[in-house]
Amino acid sequence: MRNMGRQLHVVIGGGSGFIGSALSLALRSRGDHVTLISRTPGPGRMTWSDLARRGLPACDAVVNLAGQHILDLRRRWTAAYRDEVVNSRVETTKQVVKALNESASPPEVFISTAGKCFYGTRALDAVEAYPELDEDSDPMGLDFPAELVQLWEAAADDVDSTRLRHFKLRIGIVLAGLERPSGFARLWPLGRSRGILPLIVVPFRLGLGAVIGSGKQPLPWIHIDDMVGILLHLIDHPETRGRYNAVAPGIVTNRDFVETLASCLRRPLVWSAPEWLVRLVVGGERASILLQGQLVRPRRTLEAGYVFRYPRLEPALADLVSVRTWTAGRRSCCARA
Ligand SMILES: NC(=O)c1ccc[n+]([C@@H]2O[C@H](COP(=O)([O-])OP(=O)(O)OC[C@H]3O[C@@H](n4cnc5c(N)ncnc54)[C@H](OP(=O)(O)O)[C@@H]3O)[C@@H](O)[C@H]2O)c1
Repeated sequence: MRNMGRQLHVVIGGGSGFIGSALSLALRSRGDHVTLISRTPGPGRMTWSDLARRGLPACDAVVNLAGQHILDLRRRWTAAYRDEVVNSRVETTKQVVKALNESASPPEVFISTAGKCFYGTRALDAVEAYPELDEDSDPMGLDFPAELVQLWEAAADDVDSTRLRHFKLRIGIVLAGLERPSGFARLWPLGRSRGILPLIVVPFRLGLGAVIGSGKQPLPWIHIDDMVGILLHLIDHPETRGRYNAVAPGIVTNRDFVETLASCLRRPLVWSAPEWLVRLVVGGERASILLQGQLVRPRRTLEAGYVFRYPRLEPALADLVSVRTWTAGRRSCCARA
């Protein structure tokens, strides 16, 4: 699509969030036009009620990223919160799909996003025991996050894919930087707009970094630049469609991840958070996201010609959380990578 040399108009559901903000910035910086669908009205936005009333504006691509954060640890895991997590994904997807199906001239591209949790979890006690999964794999188990993704993808599958290119993106943990915080924010640099990494870094900075559970669970991750890069690649390449994993090729275990992070931050790794504690803090049903994992590979993403800027963890973390981010001018121990 990009080859046609014209400005694109991309509509992004939930585009005010972490990934959506980065995508909007990238699109605008190359001259494309962006409209957000949001619960809050404002310039360059339409609300979900506007979408229900007036349908989609003329556009080239629609990306749906809307969803109540599942790992918001400020909120207790209750039935009401669980419903919000499900409905914020499934109902917004249904609304977008309805608008697409009713559009007289639909956009060329519809990207529905979901998580790597699609592949489910199974309690396995050795890294070698985890099956390799790619976009053609079936889920290896069914827990709440996997059920959620199935409902979410089923809602997206109702789109008339004979009229557009439909993508289902399964996203790993998206890593982004810490934006040079100052003052108290140095200790608590938590911002919804920067994803989960700033939250993970807090205990490490306090010298309390921990392996989660057994530490053997694979942790599919992706640098925010590659997350946005994949979205742009799929929008721009007319030969692509279908399921894609947005995870870096260099998947690691939870232990590898926390050891690399501790090393980047020059902090010790002194303990392992036992499973019961993680379940207590996070809440049973969503704890599997942290305690278990999936060995997910981006096979189709690589076959589609996407070249990862950060295929390996060490350079990615060096870019995002190096000591130099915190103390200007000093180089990170990870910089060797
Ligand atoms: N970040 C990750 O590591 C990651 C990993 C795997 C999958 N994903 C998925 O990718 C999508 C985008 O992730 P993100 O990190 O950018 O999320 P985010 O920062 O939490 O933003 C998502 C957006 O969804 C909208 N939203 C939140 N609650 C909603 C509700 N109850 N009803 C309707 N809209 C609601 C909000 O937009 P308004 O306030 O403007 O309405 C928010 O800005 C999510 O669906 C997430 O599950 C993310």
